[in-house]
Amino acid sequence: QACKVEAAVLRHEAVCPGFYCLELDAPLIATKAQPGQFVQVRVSRGLDPLLPRPISFFGIDAAAGTVRLLYAAIGKGTQLLAELAVGEKVTLWGPLGQGWALPEAITAAGEVMPVFVAGGIGIAPLLPLAAAWAKAGQPGMLLYGGRSQSLMPAIGDFEALGVKVALATEDGSAGHQGYVTGLLDQVAQASGEQTPLLYVCGPHPMLNAVQQAAAARNWRCQVSMEERMCCGLGACLSCVCKHQAEGAPWTYAKVCTDGPVFWREEVIW
Ligand code: FES
Repeated sequence: QACKVEAAVLRHEAVCPGFYCLELDAPLIATKAQPGQFVQVRVSRGLDPLLPRPISFFGIDAAAGTVRLLYAAIGKGTQLLAELAVGEKVTLWGPLGQGWALPEAITAAGEVMPVFVAGGIGIAPLLPLAAAWAKAGQPGMLLYGGRSQSLMPAIGDFEALGVKVALATEDGSAGHQGYVTGLLDQVAQASGEQTPLLYVCGPHPMLNAVQQAAAARNWRCQVSMEERMCCGLGACLSCVCKHQAEGAPWTYAKVCTDGPVFWREEVIW
């Protein structure tokens, strides 16, 4: 049920150095989008049409018909995106992929404490998920790692939902100095009688480390894989990862259509 639309830019702002938030008028996509899914975004400048870039939903407002995308301007495509002015249009395909397990899909959700674990720009797809859990009355906690506090957007958005926030920075500018995995011990203390359910998005070494830590503690855990993608539609195989279904030999899964979200047991490194 993905569709292709030309979406007008409603707002576009730098939220911290190198990170931008783009709000788009896209009712056909906003009414179907789920947290953890993504859109392929294409911006063209003159004779230079570029491959679309996969960007996950940072905000979904079905009633207003808008979506928000948070992205880091790190390559040619995203740098062109950063030049977009209010009123200009971009091409969007979406919503694409399989999103996070929402509270209504979780067995005994009332006994669960959602724990959002983010590294850098991996924070983006966790915000609409946190909004869904907050609406269900369980705001949970965020473990957020980054190079420096000034490069970590959206902390206030999580706090506004009632999420308890713990930070880890490599330069020690806020919270624990080191990686986000250094915050995992706080989960056991904060969860009390509840069972932690981890939702993780960030660079691959971080995903792998959190996945292993969750396995060692027997915590349920979902990971969102960030892969290079070309088509986003399951056709080009540029995005595969090693995947294992229960009781079956491993095979390759397409991150764009089978994911980007998987249960930790499914992903093999
Ligand atoms: Fe083409 Fe996934 S991006 S198959």
